[in-house]
This record gives sequence, structure tokens and C-alpha cells, in this order.
Amino acid sequence: MARMTVFGTGYLGATHAACMAELGHDVLGVDVDSSKLAKLEAGVVPFYEPGLEAVLQRNLSAGRLRFTSSYEEAAAFADIHFLGVGTPQKKGEFAADLRYVDAVIEQLAPLITGPAVIFGKSTVPVGTAQRLGERARSISPAGEELELAWNPEFLREGFAVQDTLHPDRLVVGVDRCGPGRGEVVAREVYAALLAEDIPFLVTDLATAELVKTSANAFLATKISFINAISEVCEAAGADVTVLADAIGHDARIGRRFLNAGIGFGGGCLPKDIRAFMARAGELGADQALTFLREVDNINMRRRTRMVELAREACGSLLGARVAVLGAAFKPDSDDVRDSPALNVAGQIQLQGAAVTVYDPKAMENSQAIFPTLSYAENALAACAGADVVLVLTEWPEFRKLQPEDLDGVVRSKVLIDGRNCLDPEQWRNCGWTYRGLGRP
Ligand code: UGA
Repeated sequence: MARMTVFGTGYLGATHAACMAELGHDVLGVDVDSSKLAKLEAGVVPFYEPGLEAVLQRNLSAGRLRFTSSYEEAAAFADIHFLGVGTPQKKGEFAADLRYVDAVIEQLAPLITGPAVIFGKSTVPVGTAQRLGERARSISPAGEELELAWNPEFLREGFAVQDTLHPDRLVVGVDRCGPGRGEVVAREVYAALLAEDIPFLVTDLATAELVKTSANAFLATKISFINAISEVCEAAGADVTVLADAIGHDARIGRRFLNAGIGFGGGCLPKDIRAFMARAGELGADQALTFLREVDNINMRRRTRMVELAREACGSLLGARVAVLGAAFKPDSDDVRDSPALNVAGQIQLQGAAVTVYDPKAMENSQAIFPTLSYAENALAACAGADVVLVLTEWPEFRKLQPEDLDGVVRSKVLIDGRNCLDPEQWRNCGWTYRGLGRP
């Protein structure tokens, strides 16, 4: 078993650290945020991710997982380092903000004195790994013996543990000019996964970086494709959900990621397609990705459409009472970064409505970024006296809602299903006005 560090204890880093320990490795998680470290050391995951807390606690007790804020300790602990810090969108620009990635390299590399491999996992613009590798070698006493490889992460929030322990594939980009230890070390680290015949692809650095960005760009495009078709369905009186089922049977198309609704959000897809466009522009290949601007446009238009539908339902939003069910960018997550649900809630409130939000897990995060919205303790309380109910995140508890649950609670029996996750017939049969997106 190997010893390794993981820099960053966010959604990506904390999951990677706990799951590497689960594979039997000795892992040291590193972060500059002492409040996060204190929680993790106490066996508490600082965000909601199903199953992760059990893995964390099991490996803390087994002594295979520890946390620190000390780079000195980290550099002395292992010669395998994973880099899983955030690469958010720059303020006021499309490009990715690489300050956290850069900071790890600037602080860690000078402390590395012998042969070591740093595996980058964060999503970065193509060319970053090459630059970081050169920089790391130039400031490290280990010099050429310090290798930088890129090992992109494909985990989905909500399935992070499953995706890390049983990924669809492993990709490792190695520096073709370096000592070439990256592949060997990755094979050691992931031996248990390779034994399961998980595809293992070794590439150059640029390809590995691009695999990640292209995968997210494809997923975003797939969602915006079905959302564009959903606009046509609305105009033509067709049903996009049935259409998606029908085209999804074609294995070349596939049914997954064809759910039309208020579109994609979160800390990855939106900022990744923007950073991808920005990087392509720098490389002189901007024409290749102009379609991603349209993908982004279609996606943002869905949010506006949802606000319009709410306005239509209420006559005017001024003084209307609007219940919003769901605030997280998707179910099984408490992440509200660029959440379509919260964005819609905020827009509706700005137009003069009284908006009450409920989400099973994302209340605290929502309150932190949207303190002016009202928050209710449960779905029924959010719907009290509502002129319209908006379902904006498809949590199982909302899918299970029955018309009878809300009948006596709301002021008007009007529901708009922003995720097409409820059965229109059932609601209509109970006297409700039901509207989905892209459905007649
Ligand atoms: C996404 C990718 O799916 C992961 O493979 C990738 O590793 C991750 O970004 C990342 O780069 O870190 P994630 O952001 O967790 O994962 O969420 P997704 O499951 O991709 O959903 C993204 C958004 O698309 C959500 O707002 C979801 O509601 C929306 N979506 C998804 C749709 O509107 N329709 C669909 O059919 C599917």
C-alpha cells in the first residue's frame, strides 16, 4: 500500500482522500481551512455527500486517514501527492482562476527533496499541467526528479464515493519528457480498480486535461440539446419527455443526460464550458467552440422561461406568493453553486413576489448566498398560501409528493415542474393546473 497526500478537502479532495484510504492507502489530507480540517478530523464531512461520512469515519478509526494544514508535514509524509483544489471562474471573466492550484505548487514544490510525483486532479485549462510541471521542477530541490502528471476526476456529486471507487475509466496524462514514473505510480495507487478491469488510459498531459474539459462540454451540450428541443416542443405542442425516451433508445444517443428542465448548474459544467471557450480563444481555436456559447445561452434561457411561466401562472409576480421546492443544483447534494433553482427563486423575488424556499439539504448554503429569500422548515410549510408551487430540484421527497398533500395548503392549485419529475396526469386529475417544461 502507498502513502500519499491530497491537497484540498472540498467535494473533490475530501472524497479522493477518504476513498484512497478506503483502498488501503495511508492518506494525509491537506487544507489551509482549519475549520474544515477540524470537522474532517472529527469524522464530519463539511458538505452533504451520501455515503462519504461512513468512509471517512471508517478510515479515520483505522488510522489510514489524517488531516493537516502543514505543507512541511505533507512533503515529509509521502512522495505521491494529489492536487484537488478548486478552479472557480474568475470574477468578471470566463477564464478559470488558477490561484489555488498555483499556490499549492508554489508552497509544496520547494519542500520536496527527492523523487516524487504530483498528480493534478482539478479541472484546468489545457497547458496548465505543462506549466506547473516546469515551475515545480524549477523551484524544487528535487529538480528533474519531481514529476507532474494529470489524473482528471470525473466524479458526480451525489455519487462521489461510488464514482471514485468504481469510475468509468481512469485517465493519467504523463510528461513524455519526464522520468516517466507517473504511470507506474498511478498503477500502484489504483491497483484495486485496475483489477476490476476499469479502462486505464495513459496520455500526454494536454490530452488528459482536454479529456476532462471535453467530457463536461459534451454533457452540457447534451443537456442544452434536449432543452433546445424542449423549446420547439413547447412551440409545437409536443412532449419532450416522451421524445427523449424515444431517441434515447438509440444506443448512439442514449437516454442519460436528456432530461429537459431548468438546465444545468453547479460548480462544474457552467464554469468549465466558459473556461474551455476562454482557453480555446487564447490558443487561436475560438471558432471551434463558439457553439458552447449557444449551449450556455440555451441553458440560461431555461431559467428565464421558468420565471415567465411563474409570472403567467400568477398574472403578475408583484405581491404573489411563490413556493420553491429545491435549492440545490441537483438532488443528493447541498451544493448551490450556480444553482438554477436558487437563481430562479432570486429572479422571481426581484420581480416583487414573496418567495419561500425549502430544500432537504441545501438550506444553510442557500441562506448564506441568498439571505433575503424566505426559508421554510419543510415542503408543506413552503407551500402555505402559495399562488404557485415550483419544483426546481428533483429530490425524491418532491417526486413522492401527492396532490392531496398540498390541496389544503396552497392558495391556488398550480404547479410548475421545472424538472419534469412529477406525473402530470395525477396532478391534473386532482384538479391541479400542471405545467412542465417542453410538455403540452
Ligand atoms: C459533472 C459531471 O457530470 C461529472 O462527470 C464531473 O466530474 C463533474 O461535473 C466535475 O467536473 O467535477 P456534477 O456537477 O456533480 O458532475 O453534476 P451533474 O450530474 O453532471 O449535473 C449537472 C447539472 O446538470 C445539474 O444541475 C443537473 O440538474 C443538470 N442536468 C443533468 C440536467 O438538467 N439534465 C440532465 O439530463 C442531467
